[in-house]
Amino acid sequence: MKSPWWKKTSIYQIYPWSFCDSNGDGIGDLQGIISHLDDLQELGVETIWFSPFYLSPGRDYGYDISDYLSIDPRFGTKADFDRLVKEIHKRKMKIVLDMVMNHTSDEHLWFQTSKSSRKNPKRDFYIWKEGQGKRPPNNWKSMVGGSGWQYDAHTNEYYYTNFLPFQPDLNYRNPEVKKQMFAVLDHWLKQKVDGFRLDIFNSIFKDELYRDNPKSARFFPSPDNHDEAFFQKKTFNLNLPESFQFAKEVRKRLSRYAHEPFLIGEVSGSDTVLKSFLGERSDGLHLVFQFELIHFQWKASFFRNILQKNEQVFPSPYMPVYVYGNHDQRRYIDRIQGNPEKAKVLSTLQFFARGIPVIYYGEEIARKEGRISNWSGQDPIAKRNSFVPLWLSNLLGIYINRDNCRLPMLWDNSKNAGFSKGTPWLPLGTFRPEDTVEVQKNTKGSLWQHYQILFRLRKLNRVFTEGSLSIEQERHPNVLVFERKLGKERVFVLLSFSDSPIEEKWKVSAEVLHSFGAVEKSNDSVRILGIGGIVWKHREIVSKPKPKFS
Ligand code: GLC
Ligand code: CA
Repeated sequence: MKSPWWKKTSIYQIYPWSFCDSNGDGIGDLQGIISHLDDLQELGVETIWFSPFYLSPGRDYGYDISDYLSIDPRFGTKADFDRLVKEIHKRKMKIVLDMVMNHTSDEHLWFQTSKSSRKNPKRDFYIWKEGQGKRPPNNWKSMVGGSGWQYDAHTNEYYYTNFLPFQPDLNYRNPEVKKQMFAVLDHWLKQKVDGFRLDIFNSIFKDELYRDNPKSARFFPSPDNHDEAFFQKKTFNLNLPESFQFAKEVRKRLSRYAHEPFLIGEVSGSDTVLKSFLGERSDGLHLVFQFELIHFQWKASFFRNILQKNEQVFPSPYMPVYVYGNHDQRRYIDRIQGNPEKAKVLSTLQFFARGIPVIYYGEEIARKEGRISNWSGQDPIAKRNSFVPLWLSNLLGIYINRDNCRLPMLWDNSKNAGFSKGTPWLPLGTFRPEDTVEVQKNTKGSLWQHYQILFRLRKLNRVFTEGSLSIEQERHPNVLVFERKLGKERVFVLLSFSDSPIEEKWKVSAEVLHSFGAVEKSNDSVRILGIGGIVWKHREIVSKPKPKFS
């Protein structure tokens, strides 16, 4: 069977607020994005996922939608959107929209109607419940801490929010809600959108009996698992079997479309949970983000273990999805002290392992984090925790002010790095001239050029997108070697995490596809002098024994 396009793609995430501002109001917009599509094409981008640009009060920067069918005027018009789709497709790229199904903004007409009275026909569009005396209906905590229940004095009931209080959760036990939401998907699919990224999809269903969550000893959630946090196990408000089932329903809906649109879910939990979202027969969400690389350790063994585990738990036809960062997480470059050579190692692994690489805008130029305090943050999560000093949240390893990973893109060395002619909605932070796209594009060995090579190699060699993966048995604790194989074709990827030279030798038997950092081919073998990597195609050498693979 021919493998569908989305299994072979890579995903580049654009945060519309911060990409490029065309009209000088300081906020990125669709025309700004269009003006940089050539740059993205030159880089090699295949599928672009856009964080939301639907009509929204913007209190959670677009993740609080007040109308799913219109474009927010701060980003442009419907005509701009139509052009965006056309221009993307013209360049043979794909477009994925963010779809926030779990909740709307409290300014959405559905919610305004729903809260008008207990008897309103739209009442059941949301989750309403009477309190227990003066207390909320049960103990459920939201994903951001605190009770998920919000009291409404007008009707003397509580509504449920699994995120922030102004994001009321829709009630998917009401068939009318499903119908309306499917109509929204259809609306965009008919305009040839190629897929959806599903926001907190693991939160869609809540327990029908509203049972209390059991206690847990864990306070802070981990970035790849919200199952336990704030001293409770989220048994009854996250990852319900009904949500796994719903994943299949949404997929079925998409299968009506000939252009093979796909779903990628933001879900979190154990591998068993992730697999339940993907479906036992790969009949659920097409893909789910795997956030385990977000808290990587700079160690070959860390990556070795994850690759090995994913081959066992998510063998083909499942496709792992490798993510280092997004608009909610600290940028990965900050965890390696801005070292571009380390970034090259990490990105090579991400692009050449068996899986889908997801790149967050700016990763290709080592765009750094901001240093904005929680106190002065615009992000609603920062506002909620404004009293927590930055050093403390850093010390505890919790990421609070998401403004810091959302700073404007650095295009060139004109005013505001070419992001805006006005006052950018977030400061640019400190940067050097060589941190911009324009300079890196023209600098041999820059990180941007490295990413360009990775995109190109993935496109030119089917072995990277369709081949199997096996990991070489460890020969040195600071070196990771894996092989990709498709038919007769074999490609080897060697990554060195070592600061110092390594004696151990690897044979390079044929064409070197790419090498970088302090690793190079010398005669017929690899010379490792420090951090770096090399990727080569294998040709059988009769006299030499083959390396052993696990
Ligand atoms: C997801 C989004 C995040 C948003 C939240 C609520 O986690 O990635 O940015 O704030 O959902 O929609
Ligand atoms: Ca603008």
